[in-house]
Amino acid sequence: CGSGGGGASGGSSGADVITMGFSQVGAESGWRTANTKSVQDAAKEAGITLKFSDAQQKQENQIKAIRSYIQQRVDVIAFSPVVESGWDTVLKEAKDANIPVILTDRAVDSPDKSLYKTFLGSDFVEEGKKAGTWLVEEYKDSTDPVNIVELQGTTGSAPANDRRDGFQEVIKADPKFKVIASQTGDFTRAKGKEVMEAFLKANPDIDVLYAHNDDMGLGAIEAIEGAGKVPGQDIKIITVDAVKDGMQALADGKISFIVECSPLLGPQLMDLAKKVVAGEQVPDRVVTEETTFTQEQAKEVLSTRQY
Ligand code: AHR
Repeated sequence: CGSGGGGASGGSSGADVITMGFSQVGAESGWRTANTKSVQDAAKEAGITLKFSDAQQKQENQIKAIRSYIQQRVDVIAFSPVVESGWDTVLKEAKDANIPVILTDRAVDSPDKSLYKTFLGSDFVEEGKKAGTWLVEEYKDSTDPVNIVELQGTTGSAPANDRRDGFQEVIKADPKFKVIASQTGDFTRAKGKEVMEAFLKANPDIDVLYAHNDDMGLGAIEAIEGAGKVPGQDIKIITVDAVKDGMQALADGKISFIVECSPLLGPQLMDLAKKVVAGEQVPDRVVTEETTFTQEQAKEVLSTRQY
């Protein structure tokens, strides 16, 4: 398939313009907004016609969107599953209709791997481990208990499950680390603030906040400041993503450490889509390359951060 043909209207009418149906999770975070832009820009660049829908963090909306893409007979379906479970039926429908599916960003827990062609995205367990490893190092000289509160991502989502598990796996080696409260903040700033306010009321002695994304961490910072405490000092904060607002808070000393999760999946997704539609072999799993940031590193890269 060539990458020309920009502007031609899509559908599987036999022309070489690929039509992709993409079901996005929602617009819950800065990460998600950057991810949507990356997918839309990359589709344009690749000459792929994109049908885009926003599921507002609801699985039923994603299932509806996928069914509508099947009905429209798009060439390929890509989606970022809001939760891990409950996809087998609709994925079988796509398979029966001979429409290849690519998972992007988040995984499904279907045991039948033939229901999708490939899965492009981060290793969320690894991200959780990186967060835990930083914490262990930070407190290596202390024997006092370390009271941790956790703001989890959307309940049942791959990043919430995996970031929790990866973190646990590392910190459980030392009983001084205690997760004293853990609750979902839905990956949003507003919910992060609300849940942190409740954490602060119930627990006078919080040493560390582990937030599964920057946005919840940023909401929590407002709650911490509102309670008259100094984020980054009275309470150390670890987050995941490294979007610009998060990096700013890191550079300002309010966040202590960020594990990067890259939202820029668009170009790789379009490459995979072209191959899958052409019937070429693709790897089962494509893992995104990512790093971590300390406060000093955030200061260095902040001015060139794109999202
Ligand atoms: O699935 C990726 C996660 O979803 C991001 O870390 C979070 O910010 C987003 O909402």
